[in-house]
Amino acid sequence: MAYVISFANLKGGVGKTSLTNAIAYEYANEGKKVLVIDYDPQASQTAICNVDTMEVKEGGSLNEHSIAQIFREKTPQPINIYPNFDLVPASIELQTYAESSIAGKELFLSAYLEDINAREKYDYIFIDPPSNAGTLMISTIVACDYIVIPQKITLLDETGTIELLDAMRKQGKLRRESYKVIGIVPMFFDKRRKSHYERMSELKEAIRNYERNVLKPYVEILDEDIFLTPIRDLNIWNRAIEEGMPLREFILQKARTYKDVLVELKALITDLEKNMQQNFVAK
Ligand SMILES: Nc1ncnc2c1ncn2[C@@H]1O[C@H](COP(=O)(O)OP(=O)(O)O)[C@@H](O)[C@H]1O
Ligand SMILES: [Mg+2]
Repeated sequence: MAYVISFANLKGGVGKTSLTNAIAYEYANEGKKVLVIDYDPQASQTAICNVDTMEVKEGGSLNEHSIAQIFREKTPQPINIYPNFDLVPASIELQTYAESSIAGKELFLSAYLEDINAREKYDYIFIDPPSNAGTLMISTIVACDYIVIPQKITLLDETGTIELLDAMRKQGKLRRESYKVIGIVPMFFDKRRKSHYERMSELKEAIRNYERNVLKPYVEILDEDIFLTPIRDLNIWNRAIEEGMPLREFILQKARTYKDVLVELKALITDLEKNMQQNFVAK
């Protein structure tokens, strides 16, 4: 049994890729088998895993591993990056395929997971999606058991969340499915700012109403509080990337005063686990 999860939002720059990488690494570090699929043509996940994105492109030595190959009826093999942590990298051709007129484009990702027996081989499968509501995002919604929404808490930053929830509703209605959102992760959070807490309680109320009046029965938000453990705005996230290190290793080797960030990640994992175990229905 495995969980297929995506940190998604129709806004870019909210920390989807960074958080996917850090949470996937935490699970791998606990001994769970983890697969991360970079499903964004911008290939940021591929880059932060230190895979040379130039080599993943057409003509490059790693091109056979690119997730874009699934549209050519190939079965790209994951690359091992860290112990228990495999990656299927992305390349820019993914965009071309997403915009092409191949029939059934939105089913290729789910079919690929079956082709590689991903649910048997891995405990956790993360799909790192792009920040728009095109084919790649829809495929992600269809392939996942759970969506988690990282979102900034400042004013107007909820638009990407609402647009994503609505895209999920439309797909659910079309496909007669109900999609599960675990909750929203407040990103770039500042614990000293009272406004962040006020905004969260306003949003909680608004989103529950939206769920009840609009999303039901096609989208369900599982967490009772909607908002999961917040992730603080800290420069170590950027520094870890600059050093080419997973956040955990960067903290343990170079920034030990920030060890509480790992506690933050563990608390978020506890939130995810609680909701996933209570609501699991395998696809
Ligand atoms: N908690 C955080 N604190 C500070 N900066 C962060 C944090 N999380 C991510 N970042 C930075 O924000 C930028 C965007 O993050 P990224 O994960 O690429 O977002 P997305 O995938 O949503 O586009 C990156 O430069 C990343 O290093
Ligand atoms: Mg990203």
